[in-house]
Amino acid sequence: MGKMRVAVFASGSGTNLQAIIDADIQTIEIAVVFTNNPDAYAIERAKKHNIQVEIIDHKNYKTREEYEKHIIKVLGPYKLNLIVLAGFMRILSTVFVRAYKNKIVNIHPALLPSFPGINAGRRALEYGVKYTGVTVHFVDEGVDTGPIILQSVVEIKDEDTEDTLLEKIHEVEHRIYPKAIELISSGEIEVIGRRVIKKS
Ligand code: GRF
Repeated sequence: MGKMRVAVFASGSGTNLQAIIDADIQTIEIAVVFTNNPDAYAIERAKKHNIQVEIIDHKNYKTREEYEKHIIKVLGPYKLNLIVLAGFMRILSTVFVRAYKNKIVNIHPALLPSFPGINAGRRALEYGVKYTGVTVHFVDEGVDTGPIILQSVVEIKDEDTEDTLLEKIHEVEHRIYPKAIELISSGEIEVIGRRVIKKS
């Protein structure tokens, strides 16, 4: 099997993108970094590593569908096998999800199905749970609802603030996202219903 051609989608700082670059996963090639945000620091990170960048600002499009159709067109020539969402702050509609069916993964800063959606770290802290964590999952047509690939637990201590918690969550993210991408790109896992399991 050749290397999987991967696009990393990021809207902000891109520390997960950096972790994926640094992991130097032998079974993938990062073909392109995509962003909706012309000011995303992720762009500098990509350029520094000579990775192609595509910037398409959602603000220039009337509807989500129109925006996504354009992204699909631009990404076509990259012949992608996998889309990795790493802090991409736009919800993808069925238009995009269907175009890359079962080929999109996301990282979420909580133990799904708890605390889906935005500000998951802060909401876990405010709720008072003692353990939260990180989830890597395939993207389906819902928000943070797809089959779970990997999860890892983060303990919430009495002295934690939103900042210290997010720091711990990030550390775990940077460890498990490359691991999940390696599992997928090496063909070691399969999806059966909602369950993602090691091939026997
Ligand atoms: C991460 O916490 C991720 O879980 C969430 O967005 C954040 C992205 O951070 N989806 P970064 O841009 O990778 O630093």
